[in-house]
Amino acid sequence: MYTEQVMDHFTNPRNVGEIPDADGVGEVGNAKCGDIMKMYIKVKDGVITDVKFKTYGCGSAIATSSIATEMIKGHTLEEALTLSNQAVVEALGGLPAHKIHCSVLAEESIKAAIADYYKRQGIDPGPLVGQQSDCAHCCEA
Ligand code: FES
Repeated sequence: MYTEQVMDHFTNPRNVGEIPDADGVGEVGNAKCGDIMKMYIKVKDGVITDVKFKTYGCGSAIATSSIATEMIKGHTLEEALTLSNQAVVEALGGLPAHKIHCSVLAEESIKAAIADYYKRQGIDPGPLVGQQSDCAHCCEA
């Protein structure tokens, strides 16, 4: 049911934890299942130098957040903003259809952390990051 990559990132998640002096923190939730993902980023010269996450959720949510952190670490904020949940799912070799919605949390939490970073810099994140979720809309499935 789950690919090797999903099982690997679920059983051995990368970048778990928090960054106490993070430059941006984003938290999103799935209204239907109640799962929550919190993402912390450190930023230097427009590049994400460190990222950590905490997920209170299912195995797919943990696997997608883990691989998503690997996909944005060392990349610019602009590059990180282009990361889609489809790209995350592809990197994991796929997810069962009924678990696709779990991957949305990773994309949303990264965007929320970057939006928080811009706000702390006194920059309106709206035009750069787009509409932010209110921590409740992620799951349509
Ligand atoms: Fe809640 Fe997967 S079931 S995020």
